[in-house]
Amino acid sequence: MLLLGLESSCDDCSAAVVEETPAGPLLRSMIRRSQDELHGPYGGVVPELAARDHLLNLGGVTAEALAQAGVQLKDLDRVAVTQGPGLVGSLLTTFSASKALAWRAGLPWVGVHHLLGHLNAARFGAPDLEFPALVILVSGGHTHLYRAESWTHLELLQKTRDDAAGEAFDKTARMLNLGYPGGPIVDRCAQRAETAAKLFTPPKFRDGKPSWSFSGLKTAMKLRIASDPGLDVAGPEDPRVQSLCRSLNETVASWLLKPLPDYAQAHRARSLVISGGVACNSELRSQAAKVAKRLGLRLAIPEPRLCTDNGAMIASAGALLPLPESPWSTNADSDLKL
Ligand code: KG4
Ligand code: ZN
Repeated sequence: MLLLGLESSCDDCSAAVVEETPAGPLLRSMIRRSQDELHGPYGGVVPELAARDHLLNLGGVTAEALAQAGVQLKDLDRVAVTQGPGLVGSLLTTFSASKALAWRAGLPWVGVHHLLGHLNAARFGAPDLEFPALVILVSGGHTHLYRAESWTHLELLQKTRDDAAGEAFDKTARMLNLGYPGGPIVDRCAQRAETAAKLFTPPKFRDGKPSWSFSGLKTAMKLRIASDPGLDVAGPEDPRVQSLCRSLNETVASWLLKPLPDYAQAHRARSLVISGGVACNSELRSQAAKVAKRLGLRLAIPEPRLCTDNGAMIASAGALLPLPESPWSTNADSDLKL
C-alpha cells in the first residue's frame, strides 16, 4: 500500500510518501518545511502566522514529496492526515486540503490522531516490536506515558500536570537568550559541558498520584539564572551556561524515566518506545538505553527526524487504521481524544 502522509498540527508542514509492506513501513520520501525563522522573533509559535504559512507551503511540500518518491497521485492507495490535537488553524489548513486532494483524485482518506502518529514513527525502525509496550510521548505540547497493546491502541498511565517537558527546554533557551527552538540548542550546549551537572530537585505531589510536573523546573531555572549576574546574556560558549544546560538535560531525562521500573513490572512490558520532539535529546536517548537494558525492555526511539512532527509518522499510523465511513463530513479537532 502506498500512502501520502500530511502533518501540520503546529509549526512544521510536512508531507511524506510511505510504502506499507509486509515487513513494515518504508519511507520513500519526506519533506518538512520548518517555521523556526518565522516564529523565532516571538520566542514561541504564533498560531495565526503558523496557519497562514502552512497555506503557502502545503502545495509545494506535497508536490516535492511525490516527486522525490517518483510517484504521482494516481499511484497512491491512501491519503492520511493529522486530525488533531493541535493548533486549530494549523490543523484545519492541511486537513481540509487533504480531503479536497483525496476527493479530487478518488483516493481513500483517513484522519490520524497526532499521538498515534508519534507512536507509529517507531514502526520504521522496529516494525516487529513486541507488546505490551510502555510509550513515552514527549514534545512541546505533550508529556504522556501510555501502555500500548498494539500500534493503534494506547491507554494513558500518567501525564504532566502542567507544562510539557519541551516547554522547559524552550523557556530555558529563551531565558538564556540562546535562540529558538530551545530543545536542540540546549542539548548541543549541554554536550559541551565539562563540569558535572547539578540536578534539580523533583517535585513532590501531596495527593501521591503518579504524574510529572515541569512548571516548577522552569521557575527553578529562572531563579538560578537570576542568581548569577550576566548568565542570561553569557551565550553558548560560557561554561556556566553549558553546565546549566547539562543540568536541565540530565534532570528532564531522569524525571521522565523514573516511573518506568514500576510500570514495567506492573504491566509486564516487553518494550519501551520514546517519541516526540524531546526524544531527540541526547541525554534522554542514552539514559533510556541504560534503563531499558536494566529492565530487559526492547527500546525503540525513532531516528531524530522522525521524532519531531512529520508526515511519515502519520502515514505509518494511517496504514493501520480503518477507513472512516463518511470521510468527507469528518472534522479536524484541536482537542481530539484517543
Ligand atoms: O514533536 P514536536 O516536533 O512538536 C510538538 O508536537 O510539540 O516537538 C517539539 C519540541 C520542542 O519543545 C523542542 O524544543 C523539543 O521538542 N526538542 C528537544 C530536542 N529537539 C527538539 N528537546 C530536547 N532536546 C532536543 N534535542
Ligand atoms: Zn508532536
